[in-house]
Amino acid sequence: MKSVRDIDVSSKTVFVRVDYNVPVDEALNITDDNRIMATLDLIQYLIKGQAKIILASHMGRPNGKKDSKLSLAPVGKRLAQLLEKPVLFVEDCIGDNVTRLVAQLTNGQILLLENLRFHNEEKDNNEGFAKKLADLCDVYVNNAFAVSHRNQASVTGIPRFARESAAGFLLEKEVQSYYDYVENPKRPLVAIIGGAKVSSKLAALENMLKFVDKLVIGGAMANTFLKSQGVDTKGSIIEEDLLNKASDIVKKSKEQGVDFLLPCDLICAEKFDKNARVKEVLIDQIPDQWMAMDIGPKTALKYTRVIKEAQTIVWNGPMGVFEMEQFMSGTRIIAEAIADSSAFSVVGGGDTGLAAKKCNVADKVSYVSTGGGAFLHLMEGKKLPGVVALE
Ligand code: 3PG
Repeated sequence: MKSVRDIDVSSKTVFVRVDYNVPVDEALNITDDNRIMATLDLIQYLIKGQAKIILASHMGRPNGKKDSKLSLAPVGKRLAQLLEKPVLFVEDCIGDNVTRLVAQLTNGQILLLENLRFHNEEKDNNEGFAKKLADLCDVYVNNAFAVSHRNQASVTGIPRFARESAAGFLLEKEVQSYYDYVENPKRPLVAIIGGAKVSSKLAALENMLKFVDKLVIGGAMANTFLKSQGVDTKGSIIEEDLLNKASDIVKKSKEQGVDFLLPCDLICAEKFDKNARVKEVLIDQIPDQWMAMDIGPKTALKYTRVIKEAQTIVWNGPMGVFEMEQFMSGTRIIAEAIADSSAFSVVGGGDTGLAAKKCNVADKVSYVSTGGGAFLHLMEGKKLPGVVALE
């Protein structure tokens, strides 16, 4: 990948694809600005380098229709506060008005375009649309790691038409962290995989088996693995159609010498409710119709010991229903153990990034990815289309 550092950007119009798909509340206040913060170094570099800066992003999934709740205007305001500099905003991403404003940009000025996905052509990777975006600039920079698993016009389309294309600092940092530390790790490498579904992590689990030393499983996906090993999981959430696959993965891990760790005890509840009755039980003692909601304290202790011995840690997926206070202790104990460890620790984004934040460890681990789906894509051993487009 060519780096933006390899290009002279002075007086050039640089189109930067960022991922400003940030959460906002009802009053359109941004509730987590990590993804904006993660782009400041590149923007400041471009300002210093006297570039004319166009920023473009998607927000949510508006299905090609304008939706004021998914406007990037609040992001522009937040960005201006963070940069302590004006950020111009235009209410579309293509068209005469956009072309006129881009032509008027002076060196160091910033123009944020409106949500790219207000046009269906973005998602459809429409060539004409990609060309219109490319025509706005001299240089295209992809700094949107979190959307680089999507084959969309502003990710893979523009590089086909732009005069020069390169990777931004965040894209470089994310991809490099993954390959340097996860795929070429100091050992032992421990992967902690949780979350609700085996189905969403199946490809990642199969790929990780090729290079991890230990796989530590939590979250509702552990239920499917436990049941595949003959445990009566009673009313727990299970993916029945994946029992054979789960059993295969356990078998494969044995064949490949990977330590595969499953819970030995659980926090279970009478029903899926934050006020439900709760019990700590060994895995073979779940009361009839009760369901597993979190890993138990014995499991947390066992996992903590494994984390202490690790030299590299990858964490993707919470250990339980961490959104409900009484089922977040497993996730908290694991998060704190990772934060206390001297290992290089990479935390996948999405739910896991949120969990790390909720447990106050986001700034105590080595690296929290800004990507959810994109991070998982790398864990599956696949190349990111957005990266391939720059190669
Ligand atoms: C994300 O939040 O994971 C990225 O912004 C990608 O969003 P998408 O899943 O709607 O493409």
